[in-house]
Amino acid sequence: MQPRDLSAHAEYRAGRGIEEVARELGRDPAEFVVLSSNENPFGPSPAAVEAIREHAARVNGYPKAAHADLTAAIADRWDVAPAQVWLANGGDGAIDYLSRAMLEPGDAVSVPEPGFAYYGMSARYHHGEVATYGLSEAEDFEQTADTVLADYDGERIVYLTSPHNPTGSRFSLDAVEAVADGTGQDALVVVDEAYAEFAAGESAISLVDRRDDVAVIRTFSKAYGLAGLRLGYAVVPEAWADAYARVNTPFAAGELSCRAGIAALDDDEHVERTVEAARWAREYMYDRLEAPTWESHGNFVLAEVGDAAAATEELQRRGVIVRDCTSFGLPACVRITCGTEDETRLAVRELNEVLARREVAE
Ligand SMILES: Cc1ncc(COP(=O)(O)O)c(C=O)c1O
Repeated sequence: MQPRDLSAHAEYRAGRGIEEVARELGRDPAEFVVLSSNENPFGPSPAAVEAIREHAARVNGYPKAAHADLTAAIADRWDVAPAQVWLANGGDGAIDYLSRAMLEPGDAVSVPEPGFAYYGMSARYHHGEVATYGLSEAEDFEQTADTVLADYDGERIVYLTSPHNPTGSRFSLDAVEAVADGTGQDALVVVDEAYAEFAAGESAISLVDRRDDVAVIRTFSKAYGLAGLRLGYAVVPEAWADAYARVNTPFAAGELSCRAGIAALDDDEHVERTVEAARWAREYMYDRLEAPTWESHGNFVLAEVGDAAAATEELQRRGVIVRDCTSFGLPACVRITCGTEDETRLAVRELNEVLARREVAE
């Protein structure tokens, strides 16, 4: 007995965690600073932690009220109907629900290259095909409607990542609309706003009201610091929002995730602190890194360091874990998450030393 043929399915490789790296190097996790997975350097929203404690004794029951209450709170936040909010197991889970709802076997999705791997993976699990549109390094990974439409060939879902992982570039709302106007009648434009709290400007959720062909993905993993809970959602047009009931996994988000999400939504202080720190760290990296960087609207900065695998390894030895972007098709780049001030300063200092030593060696 064997699973079906999965040879065309790429494995998802997350940024490396502290325990994993420390164990491999025989060192104490406390010696490392992890800036590889765009996690929140200040931890979870304290209000969310409190809510988890408070509700821990209730996990014997299914999360009926909690699910409904979080859905209502998110709907209220965005001024949409609760039915338009598709709660999910992270933004990743929301991508899966959209695949389930949209894709017939053989339908294709269009994804950015470089880009977030899970769009294509989810499409393949759902018997779909994957096409790409290219973001050009020579054009600073600029994201315009033309970039997407030039390669559009009738795909059913078009993924736009704004801000984009790993480059930090973004789409204007006009560009999102132009993509939606320029793609087929049956095409859904999905705007992945996993990092939107870190960017200035309006969410594409404002488009969902007046169009039936735009949906938006958001997550609690980044600005709210709840990556470990796996909580995200899609906001979809009212016209087909009822599809959720036919495609979701029952109780898509757990009791503690929902309770934490409700509390985190009101914890403006934590989000503001996180966003401010990311803005500071981005500027600090642009100014101080002795390597070319790209303007980022997320909580990370992409830097060109030559041999990214070697730089990542050397940095790791020095206690700083960043993301080698080779798997994104950018073997000369690393992505550095915005840390606390101390973490960011340390990462910049160590990376500059790694680069300086390499220059001397050459
Ligand atoms: C662009 C993008 N979208 C979606 C996600 C999914 O996040 P999560 O499943 O943790 O909500 C990530 C995670 O890093 C991401 O970078």
